[in-house]
Amino acid sequence: MSVILRRNLQVPQLLKQLSYSSSAKSSGDATATVKTVPKNLLEDKQTANLQKENGAIFDKRPFKLHLDKDKTYSWCLCGKSKSQPLCDGMHKNEFLKIKLRPIRFKVEKTGDYWLCNCKQTTHRPFCDGTHKQPEIQAAVK
Ligand code: FES
Repeated sequence: MSVILRRNLQVPQLLKQLSYSSSAKSSGDATATVKTVPKNLLEDKQTANLQKENGAIFDKRPFKLHLDKDKTYSWCLCGKSKSQPLCDGMHKNEFLKIKLRPIRFKVEKTGDYWLCNCKQTTHRPFCDGTHKQPEIQAAVK
């Protein structure tokens, strides 16, 4: 089942529960560890924020991928790639009439990152916990 939602979903409070090996920081209190969503180093240079629509939900969970800080990646926004969470060029298929384009991104440090597979994140291409919203969990079986 393929469902497209708009970007104005609220980012859930569960964002703090995400774990990123490259950005995890400890405050000294084991129960108060604060996690942050990594930053796309190409966010200002590419199209990450120019496309208002979100793609089709591919999965209701993020996918952990090992990324190299020296490489540029393309994250699938349309949700139709067969190489999720990365783009395989499926958006170019003229019969599918897909207007969305992949999000080019780079990471600050080499390491493991949780990439969004629900395609509804507000921090493209990284998972920010948006997939935990009931609308998304209900949309994917
Ligand atoms: S998979 Fe987590 S926000 Fe999309």
